[in-house]
Amino acid sequence: MCGIVGYLGPAKAAPVLLSELRCLEYRGYDSAGVAIIQDGELSVLKAAGKLNNLEKLITDNKPTATVGIGHTRWATHGVPNDQNAHPHLDSSKTIAVVHNGIIENYEELKEELIKEGCAFESDTDTEVIAHLISKEYEKEKDMLKAIFKTVERLRGAYALGVVSQKHPDKIYAINQHYSLSVGLGNNESFLASDSMAVRQYTNKVVRLEQSEIAEITVEGVRLFAFDGKEVKRRPMSLDSNPYVIDKGGYKHFLLKEIHEQPLVLRQTLAKYLIHPTKPVSFIPHITPNGNAPTNNEEENALSKSYGVHLSDMEVKGIDRIQVVACGTAYHASLVGKLIIEQLCNIPVAVDIASETRGRRLMVNESTLTIAVSQSGETADTLSALEEAKKLGSFTLGITNRPDSHLAQITPNLIVTECGIEVSVAATKTYLAQLTSFYLLGIYLAEKRGAISAEQAKKLKSDLNAIPTLLEQILARENEIRMASLKYADAHDVVFIGRGLNYPTALEGALKLKELSYIHASGYAAGELKHGPIAVLDSKVPVVTVIVPGSVYEKTLSNAQEARARNAQMIAVACEGDEQAAKTFDTVLSIPQVDEFFSPLLTVVPMQLMSYFIADYLGKDVDQPRNLAKSVTVE
Ligand code: F6R
Repeated sequence: MCGIVGYLGPAKAAPVLLSELRCLEYRGYDSAGVAIIQDGELSVLKAAGKLNNLEKLITDNKPTATVGIGHTRWATHGVPNDQNAHPHLDSSKTIAVVHNGIIENYEELKEELIKEGCAFESDTDTEVIAHLISKEYEKEKDMLKAIFKTVERLRGAYALGVVSQKHPDKIYAINQHYSLSVGLGNNESFLASDSMAVRQYTNKVVRLEQSEIAEITVEGVRLFAFDGKEVKRRPMSLDSNPYVIDKGGYKHFLLKEIHEQPLVLRQTLAKYLIHPTKPVSFIPHITPNGNAPTNNEEENALSKSYGVHLSDMEVKGIDRIQVVACGTAYHASLVGKLIIEQLCNIPVAVDIASETRGRRLMVNESTLTIAVSQSGETADTLSALEEAKKLGSFTLGITNRPDSHLAQITPNLIVTECGIEVSVAATKTYLAQLTSFYLLGIYLAEKRGAISAEQAKKLKSDLNAIPTLLEQILARENEIRMASLKYADAHDVVFIGRGLNYPTALEGALKLKELSYIHASGYAAGELKHGPIAVLDSKVPVVTVIVPGSVYEKTLSNAQEARARNAQMIAVACEGDEQAAKTFDTVLSIPQVDEFFSPLLTVVPMQLMSYFIADYLGKDVDQPRNLAKSVTVE
């Protein structure tokens, strides 16, 4: 949450900061600002609202400064307005701070600083940091020492960027439980919360680890631990292809990303599944650069973090799996539980990561804890994984970002091959997380001898067929659009499903509400009669996910119960399902598919339905209100 950037070099800083911020807008977009040092004076430009507002300010002011820091905000303390936008200054207006995270003890610090005469201009927790650094600087006359003293006083998880008018040749960056990368160019340096933002300028990056401070100059970076000891770290090389962020002719990133799903699945499968007769392998035969892995440490710094490195003995010794995740990743994990339990006969518990706080996690040395996170930066998920690690559990991450914090804290990592997902609502990464669970289930089952070679081969062949089936759904996009728009005036929508498609119902409801702001709830179909059925009447559409298989009849009965209450009946069902055609007013059809793999298909008509309704209602599809793509606060 919140994006931090910085620049120091020969170029005009403001346009560079803006283009870095563009890459980080996914982390928050309720206000943005920059602090630059121009002609020896610190000045701040900041504006509530999207980055375009800041861009306009910069265009009007035409700053020529060559050093600065910037910020894009997702509000935690204080409403999103101009005053609360970052950067924040000390009383002398010579030190500027941008901040990602939360300072948990800011109220007591603020009280103390007010007593000492500091005047506060915002409601943020950030402002205390600028005042504290300033106070310490008055005593120490040294920015690094002032920062060391300041971090001793701060509680919480945070990342900071700092500039001082008195030291216009330096930027300071501080990392406590977050991600910050310094990009090293030719006589210029960059700072960003996500290395993706500096990749447009350089592929040479130094990452800050926990409790570290960076002193950045045009020549490079010096790193220090919070205790003052200097840390040596060699830069790493990023993927040589800068990420291309464009809509590729689609109206929105979301629609483009929904359409990318067949390709994404093919890429993830190609990485870990060499052939249906060969075992699934999470030591990839392709690196992020598309090359075979080598032993060159610098070149392969990212790919080194890939892979599942558990020995056969360790895999066989696992007697329980604990999965932690949030939001859409949690829904993927609920499907993952059923896949692994069915294939491997290992009990799997799935918890919303934030709900593991303040209670005992039931893990030990024979548990595998899996953290699922598209961004690899979700604070709740990372904390839960850290807790499991402390309790001795094996750990594994499933992420789309091999350069994320998650990748740093677990030795085992499955990387989904989605490319960057720009739209805030997750679509292609959900499908890739599901795919990772299918692959993981097969992998564990093969290693533990829980399935025969014949069964494994059939599962892999079925999985390989999914991308083509997805293409068939996407080819019906227009049909789905027409059908969906009939329900665009709904105020409440109910989604139901059973078994493997209960999580699909949850995900369908989440997509609709976050994109269209229509209230939607997902239920296990059998639960409808235990309370939720009270909300049904002729104005409420009920979307039922129903595919032939073990729970078909029972799901149909539950749909009939909704129909008997005059609900508007929509189904996501397989083509040729005559019973569904009779029961539902609208059928969003998918190709025939084995129930076991159906979650990979059933979610797609729901993604499209949510997109088309939201677009029709004129909502900000790629950046829905109040959301951020990377949720780095607990
Ligand atoms: C919904 C969505 C969120 C994320 C959740 C976890 O479309 O994107 O619910 O799934 O914030 O994010 P990650 O996967 O980055 O941990």
